Amino acid sequence: MIVTTTELFKQAYGNYAVGAYNINNLEQTIGLFRGNLGKSKSNADPENPGKAAPFIIQISRGARDYSDKRFLEAMIRTAQDVFPEAIFAVHLDHGTEEVCYDCIESGFYSSVMIDASHHEFEENIAITRRVVDRAHEKGIVVEAELGQLGGVEEDVVGSVKLTDPAQAAEFIERSGCDSLAVAIGTSHGAFKFSGKQGLHFDCLEEIQKAVPAGFPLVMHGSSSVPKEWVERINNAGGAMKDASGVNEDEYIRAAKLGVCKINIDTDGRLVWCATHREFFRDHPAEFDLRPPGKQFMANYADYIQHKNSKLGSLGELENVRKALQK
Ligand code: G3H
Ligand code: 13P
Ligand code: ZN
Repeated sequence: MIVTTTELFKQAYGNYAVGAYNINNLEQTIGLFRGNLGKSKSNADPENPGKAAPFIIQISRGARDYSDKRFLEAMIRTAQDVFPEAIFAVHLDHGTEEVCYDCIESGFYSSVMIDASHHEFEENIAITRRVVDRAHEKGIVVEAELGQLGGVEEDVVGSVKLTDPAQAAEFIERSGCDSLAVAIGTSHGAFKFSGKQGLHFDCLEEIQKAVPAGFPLVMHGSSSVPKEWVERINNAGGAMKDASGVNEDEYIRAAKLGVCKINIDTDGRLVWCATHREFFRDHPAEFDLRPPGKQFMANYADYIQHKNSKLGSLGELENVRKALQK
């Protein structure tokens, strides 16, 4: 069942964060549904299903262009038939105004992100307000962003600018956005911290105090870049030096401070890369794409289940279902 992120956040707020996972292809889609439904490799027994979680599927502009946006929609609709018990939101990640309108008109997305964070404050508000007005007419909810993460966001290269708490409150009121992505020290990609830097919980606490009670916050750039997966890539011929990510134990701490959505893309790519590198290293004569594809779907499902345990969303699917039925 496709729902809005707002419906998921009502249950999550203050308790856990919902995982927002990017997809680009079939194997990621299948691994994602299996993992969130507790049908991972380590929990494949249908008589003893694993714990399930609500989740958010994120589609970036890059993903829409990788094949054709219609393939993504068709895959997700098929996944809905194959996994009817799933409860999830379909969300545009880092949209421009034009792409937001396309998703709003499509009737498929339940949530869009307008990322005008690289514009000046007033311009960011004006653009976000226009998108919010169009989206709300159709019952679609809007995530906006204030502040700037480090690293690269789609085609925008950012320099870090932490979110100002007072500005966040004004931004929410004037833009009408339904959730807000905040910059509190994370960045996109596999190289987040060069030394001991971590999340700025002091800043997050101030933001939570300043914004309306219960307002959902979002954390981008939240992959943990697990050492285990980076080592597996490097041991199978990769060259990822000094990769680092967010400490997974900090997800729950952020959730308690109002973060309801935690974005993970890079970690899925690491699982993909390690699985395929290892497979072809160990089977040099193999050239069929399906054996490593199967292995990836199993590894990714396992990884998602692990991630949900760290986000606190594992086991929450039935609570969300009950709340939606009320
Ligand atoms: O924030 C960026 C996401 O990780 C999407 O990445 O634009 O390469 O699909 P992408
Ligand atoms: P990561 O690069 O840390 O996975 O962040 C993904 C993200 O924020 C997508 O919007
Ligand atoms: Zn992002």
